[in-house]
Amino acid sequence: MSVIAVIGAQWGDEGKGKVVDLLAQKARVVVRFSGGDNAGHTVINPYGKFALHLIPSGIFSSQAVCIIGNGVVINPAVLIDEIDQLNQRGVDTSRLFISDRAHLIMPYHILLDGLEEESRAGKALGTTRRGIGPAFADKTARLGIRTGDLLDKEVLLERLHLILDGKNIILTKVYGVSPLSLDEVYSQYCQYGERLAPYIRETTIMLEEALNREELVLLEGAQGALLDPDFGTYPYTTSSSPLAGGGCLGAGLGPTRISRIIGVFKAYCTRVGGGPMPTELKDETGDLIRERAHEYGTTTGRPRRCGWFDAVAARFSTRINGFTGAAITRLDILDSFPRLKVCVGYKLDGQTIDYFSGSIATLEKCQPIYEELPGWQAPTTNVRQYEQLPVKARQYLTRLEELIFCPIDIISVGAGRDQTIIKVPIL
Ligand code: GDP
Ligand code: IMO
Ligand code: MG
Repeated sequence: MSVIAVIGAQWGDEGKGKVVDLLAQKARVVVRFSGGDNAGHTVINPYGKFALHLIPSGIFSSQAVCIIGNGVVINPAVLIDEIDQLNQRGVDTSRLFISDRAHLIMPYHILLDGLEEESRAGKALGTTRRGIGPAFADKTARLGIRTGDLLDKEVLLERLHLILDGKNIILTKVYGVSPLSLDEVYSQYCQYGERLAPYIRETTIMLEEALNREELVLLEGAQGALLDPDFGTYPYTTSSSPLAGGGCLGAGLGPTRISRIIGVFKAYCTRVGGGPMPTELKDETGDLIRERAHEYGTTTGRPRRCGWFDAVAARFSTRINGFTGAAITRLDILDSFPRLKVCVGYKLDGQTIDYFSGSIATLEKCQPIYEELPGWQAPTTNVRQYEQLPVKARQYLTRLEELIFCPIDIISVGAGRDQTIIKVPIL
C-alpha cells in the first residue's frame, strides 16, 4: 500500500473532508498535517453531518488511526469540544492521537489575531481569527508551547511564564488591552493537559509502523494551495503550507513515501476572506452559485466569494503540488446553468498571460479570458458511473482535465459519501 495526499487545490473548502471520508474507508492511518481550527471539513456519511475543525475526516472509519500531526496548531478547547461532540453522536475517538510536537494555540494568539486584524483597518486579511497566524509566528520565533509541554506541569509553567511576560507587554503597551493572568492561563492549560494526555504521542513511529506493514496512509490537507504562504496570494494567505510538500513536514514523512497526490478542485471557484480572485463574479451569477451551493464558510459562516473555474490558477496548483490526479467536487451545482465559463488565460495591460503571478497587484489587474462551454442542464446527483454523466458534463470535465494538466480520478456530485463517481480506481 502507499501514502495518498489529499490536497486543497484552490482557496480552501474544495470538499477535502468529503474525499478523505470516502478514501478513509480503506485507510489504516489518516493524518491532518497543517493549519488548525481555521479549517472546517464537512463530512456527510451514515453517522450524520459533521463539520470537523481539527480531527481528521477519517475518524468515522473503524479501522483507521487518526493523527493530528506536528504541523497542526491545536486549540485544546476546540479539540476537546470536538471529541465530546463526536462521542455524544456515537463516533468512537479512541483511535485518535496527537503529535507531541504540535504547537498549541494560546489565548494571546486568539486575542492578537483579532487585534492585528483590527489594526489593519481597511486592509484586514479576513482571517478566521482563530489565532492561527500568531501561533505559527511563535512557532517560527521559537516562542511556541507544544502539546508535549502539557505533559510536564513544571515545564509548562516555566515556558508559559517566560512567554506570557512578553505577550503581556505587547497586549498592554501596543494594543492597550488588559494583560492575561499567568495563574488563569496556567491552570486552564493544566486541565487541558490532563484531558488530552492519553492522546499525545510520538506519532512518526506509528506512521513508520503502518508503512512497514504496507498499509494505506492518507494525508489530509487543510486550506488550499492558493492560500500557501509562499505560493498563494501573499499576504492574503494562511500561515502554514497546505501543499503536498507541507504534508511531508507536517506529518513527519519523507517525500519518497508519497505515491499519489490528489488535488481537490471545485467545479468552479470560491474564496473566503480578502485577496485577489481573478474570476470572482460580483453579479447575479455569483449570487446564484452562492445560493445554489450554499457557499457560506463552515468555520465562520461568512459568505464565500464565488466565480467560474480558473484554469490558470488550477494549472499553477498542479505544478507546485505535483498532482497525480484530481477530484472535481460540486459538479452538480452547475447542473442547471445553460452556459459555463472557464478562465483559460488573463488579460494584463493589453497582453495575454497564462501564469499565476506572485504579485497581488498584478493579479488584481488580471482580467479573465473565458472559454464558453454548453451546460448539460440535467441532474447529476444520482449518477454513479462516468459514462452515465450527460455528454456535455463529460465534455466539461475533459476540458478541465486538459487545462489543469492532470487526469481526473474522482467526481463528486453531492455532499454525501456515496454521491461520488470513481473514474479511475485509486485504491
Ligand atoms: P473542505 O474544507 O475542503 O473539507 O470543504 P468544506 O466542507 O468547507 O466545503 C465543501 C462544501 O461542499 C461542504 O458543504 C460539503 O458538504 C459540500 N460538498 C462537497 N462535495 C460536494 C458535491 O459534490 N456536491 C455538493 N452539492 N456539495 C458538496
Ligand atoms: P479548509 O481546510 C477556506 C482563509 C481565511 C483567510 C486566510 C487567512 O476548510 O479548506 P487564517 O485564519 O488561516 O489566518 O486566515 O485563509 N482560510 C480558509 N479559507 N478554507 C479554509 O480551510 C481556510 N482556512 C483559512 O478565510 O482568508
Ligand atoms: Mg472548509
